[in-house]
Amino acid sequence: MKTSFVLAAVAALAAKASAACFSERLGYPCCSSSDAKVEYVDSDGNWGVENGNWCGIPDPEPTCWAERLGYPCCTTTTTVEYTDSDGKWGVENGNWCGITGKPVPTKTQGPTPTSGSDPTPGSQLTLSGNPFSGVEFFLNPYYVAEVDAAIAQMSNSSLKAKAEKMKTYSNAIWLDTIKNMQQWLETNLKGALAQQTGSKKVLTVFVVYDLPGRDCHALASNGELLANDSDAQRYKTEYIDVIEEKLKYYKSQPVVLIIEPDSLANLVTNLENTPACRDSEQYYLDGHAYLIKKFGVLPHVAMYLDIGHAFWLGWDDNREKAAKVYSKVISSGSPGKVRGFTDNVANYTPWEDPTLSRGPDTEWNPCPDEKRYLEAMHKDFKAAGISSVYFVSDTSRNGHKTDRKHPGEWCNQTGVGIGARPQANPISSMDYLDAFYWIKPLGESDGTSDTSAARYDGYCGHETAMKPAPEAGQWFQKHFEQGLENANPPL
Ligand code: BGC
Repeated sequence: MKTSFVLAAVAALAAKASAACFSERLGYPCCSSSDAKVEYVDSDGNWGVENGNWCGIPDPEPTCWAERLGYPCCTTTTTVEYTDSDGKWGVENGNWCGITGKPVPTKTQGPTPTSGSDPTPGSQLTLSGNPFSGVEFFLNPYYVAEVDAAIAQMSNSSLKAKAEKMKTYSNAIWLDTIKNMQQWLETNLKGALAQQTGSKKVLTVFVVYDLPGRDCHALASNGELLANDSDAQRYKTEYIDVIEEKLKYYKSQPVVLIIEPDSLANLVTNLENTPACRDSEQYYLDGHAYLIKKFGVLPHVAMYLDIGHAFWLGWDDNREKAAKVYSKVISSGSPGKVRGFTDNVANYTPWEDPTLSRGPDTEWNPCPDEKRYLEAMHKDFKAAGISSVYFVSDTSRNGHKTDRKHPGEWCNQTGVGIGARPQANPISSMDYLDAFYWIKPLGESDGTSDTSAARYDGYCGHETAMKPAPEAGQWFQKHFEQGLENANPPL
């Protein structure tokens, strides 16, 4: 079962690379000629340089519209699962395909290929305590495929061996658009269920990431939904409700949901200075209340709200405000329950940095590393009356102090290194730290460095941001390779 998902993901990547002008989706122009010299190859396709800029070398014209976007055309189905400005989408063999409008010959329609072998969920699982403890962590097949594509571009054998090891560690699966949620949620729940053969449960970790007006204080990860009533409605009905339905079905396996990174931290610090955050505020609050009510009553699901990182909410006044915002949000989702909080998601702040203490160097932040940040947050949140205060700390990229000169730098930092491996109960003196886990997949970009792209954020052009960088979420080979080289502990 697992192998077939890996193959599906590899096929999806291969299809993506053969799209006519793949680079436009990543914020880069197409090269004017398909004979352009190949300067660089990654999992997206072949890259050339024109007028000093990266450009994607176009592949020969594909035969149907969906292929231009990296998906096949449907061969048998005419059932429309989803419609967007590109056209009508169906699903075949667990993958998206474009419906061309051509009549489908009934003779070729057979039984749905995988349905017969789908595993059936068992009885309702009820989590008690730390959901990361005593379980196997599901390996994300999409990431395994990304790493395989990265290895194919490497010649150094010691680097290749390090990259191979990356495929043995679990990381989170980001549901960052409605379409990606439809593609990845059920497939991976099914994959994890199929692995639950003995008594050991298999845990899958998803990131819920599609709030209206997403990433309100920056540009690099702006999402598909805008801060308005109709998109807020779509968030509920096309995204949250669908996730709820699938989670209810796959009820015999543990699931962790990481909720909307950066959103509530933006409400703590950026309402006054950023109009986009003011416009998003009611949608962030309403979205959280809605999803906590739905997911927070499912016995096999544990939720963690995101609290930014030490150099965002670590200062005394920010922590004080944060305690108020988070306790209000959690109460608004009653009777739904939240297990705890995630910190350092997609950031680079070290777990421990004994060289720093409160003082002018840290702008008087008493929490200059993630450990001290969680210790302080635990105290403050408990004092504010939040009953369940447990943490999951993202260690995917904080093993090595990056080159950043200011801890506010967040985009594709040079000097990156993989941090502690995913594990439950990593620090015996912190019984409220549920896990170290890799939430941001190493190798996926934080944002494009192309100054002409709509989602270009100035931070991705700063001195310590590695360049040239593709769009947020797209594969960034050089960043990945540096993260492997600087891994701490070494791979
Ligand atoms: C991007 C998402 C992506 C995630 C994981 C975020 O910064 O906005 O699209 O899925 O990172 O790489």
